Amino acid sequence: MSHNALDYATEFSGKTALVTGGASGIGLAVVERLAAGGAAVVIADYNADQARTVAERLAATAKVVATPRIDVSDPAGSESAVTFAVETFGRLDLAVNNAGIGGPALPTGEYEIEAWDKVIATNLSGVFYGMRYELPVMAAQGSGAIVNVSSILGTNGFAGSPAYVAAKHGVVGLTKTAALEYAPQGLRVNAVGPGFIETPLLAETPAPEHEQLVALHPQGRLGQSEEVAELIAFLLSDRASFVNGSYHLVDGGYSAR
Ligand SMILES: NC(=O)c1ccc[n+]([C@@H]2O[C@H](COP(=O)([O-])OP(=O)(O)OC[C@H]3O[C@@H](n4cnc5c(N)ncnc54)[C@H](O)[C@@H]3O)[C@@H](O)[C@H]2O)c1
Repeated sequence: MSHNALDYATEFSGKTALVTGGASGIGLAVVERLAAGGAAVVIADYNADQARTVAERLAATAKVVATPRIDVSDPAGSESAVTFAVETFGRLDLAVNNAGIGGPALPTGEYEIEAWDKVIATNLSGVFYGMRYELPVMAAQGSGAIVNVSSILGTNGFAGSPAYVAAKHGVVGLTKTAALEYAPQGLRVNAVGPGFIETPLLAETPAPEHEQLVALHPQGRLGQSEEVAELIAFLLSDRASFVNGSYHLVDGGYSAR
């Protein structure tokens, strides 16, 4: 690896990235960061209108397109997102499996079965389905990097969020396993564990009061999507060429307690 000065504007030039859930929050910040670094970016999101609006806004200065509506909890949706990226830009170098939902706030003994199924299908199976179709394309190319978006709740419990916590722990294990399997083929797979980040998901999810959440973070504030996107961009970049199969916190000190 060379140690020339980093050029943010060209760091991802010639690369194609797929970002699930890229229409909002952390995913949107990742789309903006990768596009600013010169990548061609495909946004795959359940909210197709918002994804299209983002793509149109960024298209003036970057190569950003949105797929038709994609549900990551449907394997056919994940497959079509990968196919769309390859058909549009000819290859797939980078993938961020980020789409996720919160689910209701209920203790395990009262958690609705339907809600469990939906959170697991989106937040855990969605990441598996994404990798299921991304990995063969990248393996055939002999290069590629994936970041899966877990959470601080990929390593900590959180009362009232059994499905979310189980799914996010699962994402960490899935990440490590795929990294072991595909390292010999030149691929890297990592996970990130954000603390509580100010996004629409947080606003919509029933959770403790804002001040209580802030108090859990020693830095005395919640995180911003751009702070997560910066770590994801690093993990996707060649600067992280020996970082593989690991889980990286970006949580203002939450997990240090
Ligand atoms: N906000 C936080 O505090 C926080 C903390 C840790 C981890 N995360 C994780 O970060 C990821 C992004 O969350 P966010 O806070 O940016 O949320 P967000 O609600 O702002 O964005 C999520 C995006 O995913 C899309 N999406 C949801 N379900 C989908 C599906 N089935 N198929 C396709 N797209 C779907 C939504 O339309 C939305 O555009 C999630 O995996 C979340 O669990 C968030």
